[in-house]
Order: sequence, then structure tokens, then C-alpha cells
Amino acid sequence: MRHLMSPLDFSVEELDQLLDLANDIEQNPEKYAHACDGRILATLFYEPSTRTRLSFESAMMHLGGKVLGFSSANSSSAAKGESVADTIRTVSCFADIAAIRHPKEGAPLVASMVSSIPVVNAGDGGHQHPTQTLTDLYTIRTKKGRFHDLTIGLCGDLKYGRTVHSLLHFLERYHNVQIYLIAPEVLGLPDYMIQFLKEHNMPYCEVKSIDEALPELDVLYMTRIQRERFVTAEEYQNLEGNYQLTAEKLKRAKKDMLVLHPLPRVDEIAQDVDDDPRAVYFRQARFGMFGRMALLLTLSKLPFLRAGHQDIGAHGVKCSNHKCITKTEPYLPLEGNVGERCPYCDAPLEMLL
Ligand code: NCD
Repeated sequence: MRHLMSPLDFSVEELDQLLDLANDIEQNPEKYAHACDGRILATLFYEPSTRTRLSFESAMMHLGGKVLGFSSANSSSAAKGESVADTIRTVSCFADIAAIRHPKEGAPLVASMVSSIPVVNAGDGGHQHPTQTLTDLYTIRTKKGRFHDLTIGLCGDLKYGRTVHSLLHFLERYHNVQIYLIAPEVLGLPDYMIQFLKEHNMPYCEVKSIDEALPELDVLYMTRIQRERFVTAEEYQNLEGNYQLTAEKLKRAKKDMLVLHPLPRVDEIAQDVDDDPRAVYFRQARFGMFGRMALLLTLSKLPFLRAGHQDIGAHGVKCSNHKCITKTEPYLPLEGNVGERCPYCDAPLEMLL
């Protein structure tokens, strides 16, 4: 593996190794203090971030490496119209590994296709966010000791919440994981994710309130409404404030249930939940740094294989998702039949008229 685009890029065994390594790093940080001496991480963030960017940078610094990059599209040549492909070609000259966050779905994949350094998807639109999954899984494993035989509630914006999509992709591989999808209808999982659950026979049920599911859950994964991904402000305003967890509601939950949240929190978790021992979201952010240290170390040790350009194929179809990277970078090749999934963002392909 040279790049990390989706949690499915890891096998279960590889993930176990990564989490073991994260745990060893957490227990013995001094052993790893020079593990990436002389290496440079580029963080290319075209969208806002606090935890992901800073924990990537902190992870590289704790390993002895250095970092460079930008924290908004406006401070990079994207503001002058440069394509993602050209930017990563340039960054490949300056750094040894890159983490990319981009509002267009599939943008990190496009970067990986032309990059000569490993590329990590640090979040692409409402699509995937595999290093948050690493964070979430490390938290669950540390606190629960297992991924199987768990009932997990995913609450909030399941439509645009990329962390939910990535987490589900990985959980599918474990035995007896029951999923509660807790969201208003308009924020339910996108079709390609429902199809994914069905294809993998993953047991799930959809409920309309936290209360309905709470007593059953071993893990409650809260998410914020992703207002920046809504088409209109009215669409967002109608939903703000729904699906809130409070200390009062938490009384009905199991004594050892975990409350996770990728953060940032807006109002979906009341402040009075923060001191409950079941609320692990701030520790989760710290766990993320160890997960990313393990990832950077693993990717930097893999043999150097120049990725080069992968030709995805011919023309004749277009992607139906207006947030797909193919909409702003029209040079990208697309192959497949109408109704099949776009190779960049997983939305259905449609006829190019
Ligand atoms: C998440 C993201 O960016 O998708 N945050 C994060 O990376 N920790 C969740 C969010 O922004 O709501």
C-alpha cells in the first residue's frame, strides 16, 4: 500500500498491526522520537481543520520529522486556478509524504494518481475520512478491547458526515456489529452507503431519535450537521439543534457506553455531558495523534514505488455528483457504464450528453 484513500485500503491484519504500533508509540514515545528524522510531511488543506491538520503535524514532529503546507485553498495556487494534479506534482518535489483535505470528492485520489510520494486522504467532501476512522477504531479498541459484538449508534448528519462513511466501511468486516442509524430523513446515509450495508449483510435499523436507540448502545457516535455542505441556508436552518445528547438523556444509556465524536462539536452534545466518564471525545482527539504517527511511520517505511499516472480509462459517461472532483477538473478520465459507481466519489455514473 502506498496511499491511503479509504479504510478498505487496510486489511484487518494491517489495521491490527497499525493499532498495535499506535499503542506501542503511546506507551513508549521515546523509542520513536527519531523514527522519521529527515522526513517532511506536506499538509495540503483546502478546507478548514483543527484536529486533523494539527494532529498530522504533531505526529510528524513527535517522530522527528518536519512539516510544511497550507491551511486554506486561498493561500495556495488553487486560488490562481491550479489543478490538484499540478499541485501534488509540485509538492512531490519538496516533501516525502502528503496529507490532503479537499471539498471535492475524489480529489485525494486524483492526487495519488500522479504523485510520486504517498498521499493520505485527510477528508474529501462528504465522501471519506480514513484517518478519522483510525482514530475512532483506536479509541474503541483501547476502551472496549474489541470491534466485534458491538451495537453502535451513528447519530446526526449521516448524509454528509464523511467520518461515518469511513467508519462503516471498516466495521463491516467484524462479526455481530449492529448499527443504529439515528438521523432525520433528509440526513440519512447516501444511497451508495445503504447499498454497501446491504451488499455486506450488515444489520442496521433506522430510528428518528437518540432516545429510541440509547439503552441498546455500546458506542454512540455523534456527528455535527455539516452546514457547509448544504445547498441552501434554509435547508440547514430547519435542522439545526436536532438530535442533541444531554446528561439527562444519558441516564438511560449503559454504564459503559462510549460517546464518540470526531469534533468539532456545535450543539449536538450539551456541555453537561463533557464530565461524564462515558464521554471520550477529547481523549479520542489525542488517540488520533498516535494513530497518525503509526500511519506516517508505516507509509514512510514501505519500499519506494513511483505511483505515476494511472489511466482510469475512456469517456462516454459523467458523474451525477456535483461535488465530485471531475466537475472542476474536467481532464480526468472516467470509465464505466451508466448506473455504475464513479471511481472518484462512488456516486452513480450517468450518460454524457
Ligand atoms: C470531521 C471532518 O472534518 O470530517 N472532523 C475531523 O476531522 N475531526 C468532522 C466534522 O467536521 O464535523
